[in-house]
Amino acid sequence: MTARDLEMEDYESIRDWLSNRSGIHYPEHKRDLLRKRLGRVQLAFDYRDLGSLLRDLKSGARAEVEMAVLSAASTNHTYFYREADILNRMRETILPALSARDEIRVWSAACSTGDEVFTIAMLIAEALGPEALERTSILGTDISAPVIDRAEQGIVSARQIAEVPEALRRRFLSPLGLGQYAVSAAIRDRCTFRRMNLKTTPYPFRNSFQIVFLRNVLYYFDPADQIATLEAVHEVTEPGGWLITSVTESLRGLPTPWVQQSNGIFQKVRP
Ligand SMILES: C[S@@+](CC[C@H](N)C(=O)[O-])C[C@H]1O[C@@H](n2cnc3c(N)ncnc32)[C@H](O)[C@@H]1O
Repeated sequence: MTARDLEMEDYESIRDWLSNRSGIHYPEHKRDLLRKRLGRVQLAFDYRDLGSLLRDLKSGARAEVEMAVLSAASTNHTYFYREADILNRMRETILPALSARDEIRVWSAACSTGDEVFTIAMLIAEALGPEALERTSILGTDISAPVIDRAEQGIVSARQIAEVPEALRRRFLSPLGLGQYAVSAAIRDRCTFRRMNLKTTPYPFRNSFQIVFLRNVLYYFDPADQIATLEAVHEVTEPGGWLITSVTESLRGLPTPWVQQSNGIFQKVRP
């Protein structure tokens, strides 16, 4: 076996480890991208070749290396008010039904740097008023530790907030200089961030959610992991509750318990 064959074999074993561990599936045409991302981990931890990185991943002896591979392999692109059309439909059709609830519980299940979580809080404040915001808790989770750390800091860039309507920007975002903004305490106090792997089911929540956002993550998973994730999310959603996906991610063809109500909006109609 040549050195090149060996490196191909090690690459494929790491790609399979990644898929088994996180659901993140790299198809053949994205080989160069994953190879580049693994290169960064190799450099950071001084691995001479993929074989030595693979040995540590397989042995499970170095949790920090596993975390680094999971973080490096994830695509974290996000921004406030992403896909405004679906957010507006949620504000108009779902939020009014929650206005009288003692507690409004929302989960953003792959939240990256928290832009979606802060956006949901702003939408609730705007649609239902500050008093409803105080009855709201929004959980943001992601497999990548660095993005969760950033979300917890609540400092965002001009690029991230470019789509936020001016009135909400003035109300909830304070300029810090150098193109940075602080998310207001009124918003941040309602948001909690945790590291969590969607591949590890069932999900460990005591109370169910009324709305779950699962946007721009399913398309990184293969169909078996998509189905398992959708079922596990269904389990932790209250009867009558809602799932919001990206409009670009169709669940059509997947055998899931969710009932589609409109493009990207699904409902749990049976327990
Ligand atoms: C493209 S971002 C989407 C962020 C946000 N939901 C949005 O639509 O703007 C995808 C996120 O999914 C996360 N992710 C990928 N696999 C995951 C898994 N198995 N468990 C939890 N999060 C995962 C990545 O770390 C990344 O931050």
